[in-house]
Amino acid sequence: MKKFFLFICLIVVSTTAFCIDSSIAIVPQPVKLEQKQGSFILPHNITIQTVETTDLKQTLVDLQKRLSVPTGYKVSVSGNAANAVIKLELNKTENKTLGDEGYTLSVAPKTITIKANKPAGIFYGVQTLMQLFPPQIEDSVLVKNVEWKAPCVEITDYPRFGWRGLMFDVARHFFTKKEVEAYIDQMSKYKLNLLHLHLTDDEGWRIEIKSLPKLTEVGAWSVPGVGQFGTFPVPPPNATRTYGGFYTQDDIKEMVQYAKERFVNIMPEIDVPGHSLAAIAAYPELSCSNGVKNIGVASGESIKDWGTHTAIYDDNLCPANENVYDFLDKVLTEVAALFPFEYIHMGGDETFKTFWQSSDAITALMKKENLKTYEEVQSYFEKRLEKIVESKGKKFMGWDEILEGGIGPNAAVMSWRGAHDGVSATGAKENVDGGTVAAKMGHYVVMSPTEYVYLDYMQSDRLMEPHVYASLRLNKVYSFDPMPKGLPDEYQKYILGAQGNLWTEQVFNFRQAEYMTWPRAFAIAEDTWSPNQNKNWDDFVRRVEAQFKRFDVEEVKYAPSMYDPDFIPSLNADSTLKITLKNEVNGLEIHYSFDNSYPDKFYPVYKEPLSVPNYATQIKVITYRDGKPIGRMISMPLDELRRRAEHRNDDDD
Ligand code: ACM
Repeated sequence: MKKFFLFICLIVVSTTAFCIDSSIAIVPQPVKLEQKQGSFILPHNITIQTVETTDLKQTLVDLQKRLSVPTGYKVSVSGNAANAVIKLELNKTENKTLGDEGYTLSVAPKTITIKANKPAGIFYGVQTLMQLFPPQIEDSVLVKNVEWKAPCVEITDYPRFGWRGLMFDVARHFFTKKEVEAYIDQMSKYKLNLLHLHLTDDEGWRIEIKSLPKLTEVGAWSVPGVGQFGTFPVPPPNATRTYGGFYTQDDIKEMVQYAKERFVNIMPEIDVPGHSLAAIAAYPELSCSNGVKNIGVASGESIKDWGTHTAIYDDNLCPANENVYDFLDKVLTEVAALFPFEYIHMGGDETFKTFWQSSDAITALMKKENLKTYEEVQSYFEKRLEKIVESKGKKFMGWDEILEGGIGPNAAVMSWRGAHDGVSATGAKENVDGGTVAAKMGHYVVMSPTEYVYLDYMQSDRLMEPHVYASLRLNKVYSFDPMPKGLPDEYQKYILGAQGNLWTEQVFNFRQAEYMTWPRAFAIAEDTWSPNQNKNWDDFVRRVEAQFKRFDVEEVKYAPSMYDPDFIPSLNADSTLKITLKNEVNGLEIHYSFDNSYPDKFYPVYKEPLSVPNYATQIKVITYRDGKPIGRMISMPLDELRRRAEHRNDDDD
């Protein structure tokens, strides 16, 4: 296998193929990369030529730190290009191919030059450059005995999409400002440029709104608990609410500035009219029921019945109450002033209409406004909300439910539901995703379909992962093309890009947030940045593994789930169990046992579907590469496989 990795032949532009050294492993894959003879070795005195732009101040500080701390070398920044070994230059004449975020990077034996039209391009060139040095360059302490060498290359690189995002749900579980900043550090290294902060939900209101202090005095605090979120009992009314937290407006300003310095925009989401129990706990009069079933801020209990689509406790803001619009006006005045990004996301998803159905105020509103369905009631609400958002100088975005009952004139859609859930403007089911529907109507769209980019889903067998109701393996994320299939050319301009969504019901701490994000966010970075036609799964795996080495140095957690095989159980004609195992990563061997002992490389290698020996109760498997264990030991009960083969989904969520 090692030999296989020595030289990798890549199709880098559709017409050109060439070979590069396996030490070059950049994520996301650059548009055009040519390896040249030789390498650049960092000198003990490194001079970086300054680019005169305040936007690059932090880039220079970071670069200086990253080059000096692990090496112990002296790094200085100078306006004088003569003795510089690293030159960062803004193009005097625009290079049209590069756009606002592209760059060229030339690594020659004595000099490194990064050129771009705009500061963002220089920043991305620097991120690529760092990936050319050994992984120890990521260390935060001095590392001895490393040759600080980068291969000579010529790179021309620019993104496929302008919107390359991750959503971080800081409402279900709270993550501190420092943790959000660490998230920004990592995403920006992989050229992801949009952080969507899901700031409010049933389980917490996380942003200080000075004119509505109860939102955080009450709405930011729930009853602590760990385990399977969503199954906890309803706490007694007097339970102590000590779990949670919120960002002060100063915190938000700091995060926005931190992100800006790393060329990341933060888009706030205030999720209404559903997902609003935290707000309703603070201000019950904003619901149609006056909070009659108010259980306070949700604390991991089951608040809605997904089977029957009815709300148990999950009350909503009331579209028939004028105070709701005043409330939202106040919230948005402050939110708009805090976030410079052009869009504010107003949620709109999963609004179970149960409490509206029993509301006289809603019935009266429907009569007055000639609204025939509860979807039209929501649409009435969304259109008024869109006007409020626009009155603050911002653009309105919502989840694709805002298409139901009629979308507002300028609304942008974040498309999350799959094709079969696609809903046309009239509410009729169409066999397309909401993104396609919206783009064809001339609305801007961000693609974030559950089946490809939901980062809360399990990454390998459910036995190995904190349980969530669905799975999403790395190769599926990598196969994602943000451009909806079949979308006619003239509408493609409406697809802004894509993002992965990290919902955090089952994510109780930041290490787990990292684990859920990486390596799948590497795939999202590549889906949104790199040309689709250059994708190559085996090569992506090679490059992901190179990033794992960097994360090991940086102590960022990632999931090793891609090394776990899939278990595919079926029943033979005589009802006995047949077990097929399938690796996601090519070139691995699966060793297995049925006798309850732990398999190693001396155990049988999986070659074909297995029959179960007499009396066996479990199969244990582990993957190896080149004679070394690489995967996790998995002990799979055979009862569980039989249950799956018989399609008994009794504990599906
Ligand atoms: C969503 O996943 N409810 C947007």
